[in-house]
Amino acid sequence: MSSYTIMPTISTSFIALSAILVAIGWRLIIKRRREAHEKTMIAAAIAAVLFFIIYVSRTIFVGNTEWGGPDHLKTIYTIFLVFHIILAMVAAVFGITTLTLAFKKNFAKHRRWGRTTAVIWFATAITGVTVYVLLYLLYPGGHTKPVIDAIFG
Ligand code: HEM
Repeated sequence: MSSYTIMPTISTSFIALSAILVAIGWRLIIKRRREAHEKTMIAAAIAAVLFFIIYVSRTIFVGNTEWGGPDHLKTIYTIFLVFHIILAMVAAVFGITTLTLAFKKNFAKHRRWGRTTAVIWFATAITGVTVYVLLYLLYPGGHTKPVIDAIFG
C-alpha cells in the first residue's frame, strides 16, 4: 500500500470503529449499564478525534485525493462528498453537545440529543466509508492535491 493510501485507510478505520463503538454504547445504555456506556462513548469520541487529527494532518502535509473515476460520475460524487463533509461537521457539533450534556449530568436532554447524535454519526461513517471505497478501491488513481482543488478542481 502506498504512502498516499495508508493514511486514508487508517483514518477511515477510525470512523468505522467510532460508529461501531457508538452502536455498542447505545446498546449498553438500553441495558442500563451506565458506566460501560460512558466508557464506550468516550472511546468512540477518542476514535473520532484520532480520525480528525490524521485527516487534518494529511490534508495539510499531503493534500486530498481528487476523483479518479469516470467523468459522468464526477458531479454525483462531488455532491455526495459535500453531503458527507456537512454530515461530519454536524456530527462533530452534536457529539460535543451530547458529551457536554452528559458531563453536566443533564441526562434527560442528553438522552434526546444522544439518539439524534448516534444516527447522524452512523450516517457520517457510512458515507465516509463509501467515499473511501470509491476513491481508493473502486476508482483508484486520482491525483493527490490541495484540499480545495481536490473537491472542486
Ligand atoms: C458522544 C457520546 C455519547 C452518545 C452518542 C450517547 C448516546 C446516548 C443515547 C442514545 C442515550 C439514550 C438511549 C435510549 O434511551 O435509547 C444515552 C443515555 C444516557 N447516557 Fe449517553 N451518550 C454519550 C456519552 C455519554 C457519557 C460520556 C455519559 C456519562 C457521563 C453518558 C451517560 C448517559 C446516561 C446516564 C444515559 C441515560 C439517561 C436516562 O436514562 O435518562 N453518555 N446516551
